[in-house]
Amino acid sequence: MKFFIDTASLDEIQEAHDLGVLDGVTTNPTLCYREGVEDFEGHIAKICDIVDGDVSAEVIGTEYEDIVAEARNLVKIADNVVVKVPLIKDGIKAIKTLSNEGIRINCTLCFSPTQALIAAKAGATYISPFIGRVDDISTDGMQLIEDIVQIYDNYDLDTEILAASIRHPHHVLDAARLGADVATMPFEVIEKLLEHPLTDRGLERFLNDWDQLQENLKAAE
Ligand code: E4P
Repeated sequence: MKFFIDTASLDEIQEAHDLGVLDGVTTNPTLCYREGVEDFEGHIAKICDIVDGDVSAEVIGTEYEDIVAEARNLVKIADNVVVKVPLIKDGIKAIKTLSNEGIRINCTLCFSPTQALIAAKAGATYISPFIGRVDDISTDGMQLIEDIVQIYDNYDLDTEILAASIRHPHHVLDAARLGADVATMPFEVIEKLLEHPLTDRGLERFLNDWDQLQENLKAAE
């Protein structure tokens, strides 16, 4: 499973990159707003300098011509830019055009298996089902992942399933069990993936016992 970080914070991206397990980055207009990004293209360029993997940059246009023009512009920033296009009618049409040109697309705001099927038929590189937001309305986000995995398997569709809107490690665990190709998550979720109280307690005990051993050896000299 590939790990992407879902943020526009350069500090978080750098810290996750330094861990050595980061495969890419997803951004969106809300995340840019949170960071107070002024120069969007310049900011994406900085992210692309930090990570080798795919960096999703979202279009703002909602009409076919605007989406296509923005996407063609965004991919000039760096080779690892993937253009995020919303799952709307003009978006699907644009994905078809752009994927035919070799431009890689992350189709975002997916909330149903049929949406995922259409995005794959249009040639999206990634489909982003928003698990957390589905859970938020008392529906089962993981069922959405399961359905997409099955449909893509049935027809050997190449589009990668990018589990998005991840809120906690259990989302990552369930998405991994179901075979999602990628999980994009906030920095704090990446940190939580590696934490366990028994690890901390066990390490404390090992270190205390080691100190005790050294003291005993010194006393015996
Ligand atoms: C994915 O690419 C989106 O940026 C993101 O996962 C949305 O998550 P949210 O529902 O926490 O805003």
